[in-house]
Amino acid sequence: MKILISRKIESEVMQLIPKDEFDIVMWKEENSIMPRDLFLKEVVDADAIFINVTDQIDEEVLSCAKKLKVIGTMAVGFDNIDIKEATKRNIPVGHTPDVLSEAVAELALTLMFASARRVVESMNYIKASEWTSWGPYLFAGQKITGAKLGIIGMGRIGNELAKMARGLNMDVSYYNRNRKIETEKKLQVHYKDLNTLLQESDYVVMLAPATKETYHMMKYEQFALMKPTSIFVNVSRGTTVDENDLYKVLKEKKIYAAGLDVFENEPIDENHPLLSLDNVIAVPHIGSATVETRDKMVEITLKNILNGLKGEPLLHAVNPEVYTKK
Ligand code: GLV
Repeated sequence: MKILISRKIESEVMQLIPKDEFDIVMWKEENSIMPRDLFLKEVVDADAIFINVTDQIDEEVLSCAKKLKVIGTMAVGFDNIDIKEATKRNIPVGHTPDVLSEAVAELALTLMFASARRVVESMNYIKASEWTSWGPYLFAGQKITGAKLGIIGMGRIGNELAKMARGLNMDVSYYNRNRKIETEKKLQVHYKDLNTLLQESDYVVMLAPATKETYHMMKYEQFALMKPTSIFVNVSRGTTVDENDLYKVLKEKKIYAAGLDVFENEPIDENHPLLSLDNVIAVPHIGSATVETRDKMVEITLKNILNGLKGEPLLHAVNPEVYTKK
């Protein structure tokens, strides 16, 4: 059986695959993606594919993949996979929820702190030899302890972030498609409609997944509701935000700053107007990037794939209906 792995992964966890039982085809280059034409060629006789957020698994891939029995994505998000088509073909799709929630919540906090305390701007100031003396208000920023946090999308990562923020004595609110009464009680968080949440929060963290409904849910009109001292952080998907509008509100100082891990087009062009602003901190989609978390994500992806190849339920299937539908 052939397992196609679209990225070079060198972790020891890869030893979970019994080498003598499988034909492993892995992309050889670090930090580059397997070219689409090669992927389409290799997928033809693949029994399983190990993919990630940079692979588009669409109708074209699925119709080439004549032997495909399971898809494992090393990610919690699966907006890059045509789940309906995979389900139609009875192919289970595995993903890696839970194990990355703390790491992503930590990056959200990192971006909150770094934006609030102007960390990158300050370092650039030193490097530019501009630092001449301590200043009473030199790089004075915003406080986090006790401030109001608004979370958009209260899933697993939202829960972790809320717990951490409560530890900082933050007043935490959330907006979500459905209210989470249990979470409200357990974590002492409040539900607010989106407009109220934007108006009242000092920090707004986007955690909603990329769907048709969340496409550009943050446009000029929404950003303009935020306070001039408020900070926007996106650690979910770039498509939830209209980046041109975000640029405008940051340039006009309608909001204080933004911390961004994800972008409408990745990698973001180095000449993108957002990157020219001092009040933007951008990092290259590294939400779950701690070694421990990435090892766990590889492990779960492999277990999903090995289970799928044996015809057993995956640890975490996005489309478990493949097992019940006739
Ligand atoms: C990363 O963005 C993921 O979905 O895990």
